[in-house]
Amino acid sequence: MQNLASNYFSFLQKFSSPKSCELTSTKLYHENLATPKSQKLLEKIFDKPQEYSNQNMDKLVLLSGQKLNCSTANQCEEPKARKGRHGYHQEVENIVNEQIYHEFNAALSYLAIASHFGQTDIALPGCHGYFFNMHLEEHEHALVFFNYQLMRGGQVKLKGIDTPQVSPKGPADAFNTALEMEIFVKEKLIEVFNVAEKHKDLQVQDLITTDFMEEQNKSICELGRLIERSKITDTPLGEYLFDKMIFSAFVKKDGSKLMNKRSLQDTEINLAYK
Ligand SMILES: [Fe+2]
Repeated sequence: MQNLASNYFSFLQKFSSPKSCELTSTKLYHENLATPKSQKLLEKIFDKPQEYSNQNMDKLVLLSGQKLNCSTANQCEEPKARKGRHGYHQEVENIVNEQIYHEFNAALSYLAIASHFGQTDIALPGCHGYFFNMHLEEHEHALVFFNYQLMRGGQVKLKGIDTPQVSPKGPADAFNTALEMEIFVKEKLIEVFNVAEKHKDLQVQDLITTDFMEEQNKSICELGRLIERSKITDTPLGEYLFDKMIFSAFVKKDGSKLMNKRSLQDTEINLAYK
């Protein structure tokens, strides 16, 4: 029986799904293996492993989950099979993956806005650079959560990013859209905090409050102020002056880091605003 169990465990490890590997291997191994029904099932798996795709394995997991009073595998206690993982609840892991998705979505939306202002018939290098920088910032946030997930012994599950639904009518509209996105992301961060609090995960709570919340609030404040200033953009001269201010205040100062050939064209930097 012990040999069968360890074989079964090795078999499950071939599946990347944590549901298959962690829940089934630990729970079925300890609690279901001794029953004649599950033993028969295991023998079937060893006979024809090719018939047991991930989909079939998930059914097995669900079966075991029901036996353990869990409606799905993810609602069970934290996985125990992965080494280097301690006190990291499955629900926290899931919501961190959700946050990675939201940060990447925000990054792509900012990139779409930046591309709008970078078009030759729009040509507003201040707004172009500002939103390009915002894109880099959101991308970096996604990577912070990505690396954090791995550090805690979790599994990163990347989801497809949505096509950005942004087509700004002008600078004022773009900054209003940005404010809505920042508020949305802040609310998502609070959800991560609440799940971490529920499972007494002190470090995830600290990650949110220390590394994200202040910056998020500063962004919301900054965008609110810029929306006020952007009211002058209803005339061509106002639009020029506003963009020049954005360029000087937010794009030019980070020149060494961001204004390289890959972020803004040299000619634009040299000719636009000095
Ligand atoms: Fe962010």
